[in-house]
Amino acid sequence: MKHTQKIALYNNKGGVAKTTSVINLAYCIQKAGRKVLVVDCDTQENCYMFFMTDKRTNGILPTDYENIFHTTWTRYAELDADRISGFDYIMFDLPPAMTDEVKQIIRHSGLVYVPTMLGEFEIHGLERVTVEIARQQAQIGGIFITMYRRRNDEELLRDFRSALDSTLLQTIIPYSDTVRESQKAGLPLEAYFTEKKVPRSGSSWKIVNAYENLTDEILRRSEV
Ligand SMILES: Nc1ncnc2c1ncn2[C@@H]1O[C@H](COP(=O)(O)OP(=O)(O)O)[C@@H](O)[C@H]1O
Ligand SMILES: [Mg+2]
Repeated sequence: MKHTQKIALYNNKGGVAKTTSVINLAYCIQKAGRKVLVVDCDTQENCYMFFMTDKRTNGILPTDYENIFHTTWTRYAELDADRISGFDYIMFDLPPAMTDEVKQIIRHSGLVYVPTMLGEFEIHGLERVTVEIARQQAQIGGIFITMYRRRNDEELLRDFRSALDSTLLQTIIPYSDTVRESQKAGLPLEAYFTEKKVPRSGSSWKIVNAYENLTDEILRRSEV
């Protein structure tokens, strides 16, 4: 493979784990041997905190991980094509609103993954998101469920599967309090568990395995 795959993570809802997923997917994708550029497009610039011990100020910046680099949309927009083509994956962490800038980023990316929670209202919301993305002439790579708590929602899950069909990825990211802990420590989940020496067999690792499975699905869909 030597084609740069651009992926945006978008949902018009906030708090559905867009940023959390960008961070943990970027981590898993670099572990799978790819070079990743994370582009913070939200004015909050959340991503750098997870990757960089120091915040420096311009260009494409190295992070604490050899194959993850970081930039912001403003800086990215000034880069020439040669710099961009040095990456296998470029991931755009978007804010939760279809502003003109978000439309521009979605058109640029061409491929969007949509994290969602599992809920009664979500299916209608997702229809709107799907239409908005199609309007920008971008493809939906897939929709995936995050923060899943097992609470008699088998029926809801069945509704999701039948409404979304193959757009819905197989992997479900479970709810886990360790996400907040890892974010307090400013680390991707796997780096956090490794630092805390949490045994791999422990149930905490379930969410890391889920992000690894999600990465496999995304790589499979991108690298056919
Ligand atoms: N799998 C999860 N389990 C528990 N909490 C989560 C999970 N994923 C994200 N969170 C928490 O939910 C909140 C919103 O996540 P975030 O990634 O910032 O969403 P977004 O970028 O979509 O606004 C954060 O406080 C984060 O720690
Ligand atoms: Mg966010």
